[in-house]
Amino acid sequence: MKLAILSCSPKCYSTRRLLEAAKHRGYPARVFDTLKFSIDLEAGVPDLHYRGREVGNYDAVLPRIGASITYFGTAVVRQFEQMDVFTANGSTGIGNSRDKLRCMQILSRHQIGMPQTTFVRNKSDVLPAIERVGGAPVIIKLLEGTQGVGVILADSVKIAEAIIETLHSTRQNVLVQKFVAESRGRDIRALVVGDRVVAAMRRTAQGQEFRSNVHRGGTTESIELDEAYHDAAVKSAQIMGLRVAGVDMLEGNDGPQVMEVNSSPGLEGVEQATRLDIAGAIIDYLAAQVDFPEIDIRQRLTVSRGYGVAEISVPAGSEFVGKTIDESGLAELDINVLTLYRGTTVIPNPRLKRALEPGDRLLCFGKLEAMRTMIPEKARKKRQPKLKSLPKSAHTPA
Ligand SMILES: Nc1ncnc2c1ncn2[C@@H]1O[C@H](COP(=O)(O)OP(=O)(O)O)[C@@H](O)[C@H]1O
Ligand SMILES: [Mg+2]
Repeated sequence: MKLAILSCSPKCYSTRRLLEAAKHRGYPARVFDTLKFSIDLEAGVPDLHYRGREVGNYDAVLPRIGASITYFGTAVVRQFEQMDVFTANGSTGIGNSRDKLRCMQILSRHQIGMPQTTFVRNKSDVLPAIERVGGAPVIIKLLEGTQGVGVILADSVKIAEAIIETLHSTRQNVLVQKFVAESRGRDIRALVVGDRVVAAMRRTAQGQEFRSNVHRGGTTESIELDEAYHDAAVKSAQIMGLRVAGVDMLEGNDGPQVMEVNSSPGLEGVEQATRLDIAGAIIDYLAAQVDFPEIDIRQRLTVSRGYGVAEISVPAGSEFVGKTIDESGLAELDINVLTLYRGTTVIPNPRLKRALEPGDRLLCFGKLEAMRTMIPEKARKKRQPKLKSLPKSAHTPA
């Protein structure tokens, strides 16, 4: 595996450790300054230049994109994706996790604990928003802060309102979030690599500080995660589409409360706290996965007109209940079942002999027209676009 590490700070601990771990394992590796790439676009030949020269062939890219260069950095990663180079974290995952609102929106449809959060813009919506998340003390957060900067704890509703109003007047968007008091000054950082947590630490803030970030002076201790925390961390990283992630969780009374998912987690604090070779674990994982670059399914499917992916449901009383997938007749309708979701269980490539139960959901690839009536009524209604229909001639036949 020939590895390209993208980083604007080649001397920082994490970059040095990753380079060292790759070389130690005999993989040729080089650190590229993310901002020194040129992205060249031409039909059929997506290309990249680095300091005026063509970038050689690399098998894998490990992006370490800082918050200050998200736009350019994700553009470089996206270009590697177009060139079919395996990227440890994809451009979409990095972009989505960078923005705390976007991250929480994406996680919120899944069963993952999170502090109650609202996002408002209108002045008259601010007070009700603070009240909805439980009133003061309340957390106010900038969407793209890091290292604890941009996270404020407001003691009273009046102060909270004033802070939000001030930030809005300077065109800053902010989240209003429930203060998880039982976890005050304490949180958990889980380092996820692939489908497991390779290291976890509890961070504890200093003195009166409520933010436990290492950059705010937080102290660290290595911990073993129980199952709920382990699963919340892995699921969050996977939903965000990140193979390498630092998941921050508060310890709520009802279990883990995910606050954010970091796509370029720092390695220094966690390696020191746990004494584990996390850089090595990342490199080993990449070497094992390098043959499977990200495929943007929607992008690839545009060539198969009339076919697509849809989730169909098996409600109680459905004709499918009690039948096996084989007997359901889906195959005859040109529909393949890719994954079966049953409660919290996920069954990839379900066997044809598996019987369907009420409440099952099937992720299918097939003829869209044949799947139309099988999509749950509510989901279909929600997606009805409120657009005027095009003149008949403009329709492309499916
Ligand atoms: N809702 C909350 N309740 C209690 N503490 C919080 C809450 N949100 C953040 N914190 C504290 O502030 C720290 C920074 O918040 P976080 O959302 O992770 O932002 P950053 O990107 O700056 O690390 C957390 O590690 C935690 O200690
Ligand atoms: Mg954090």
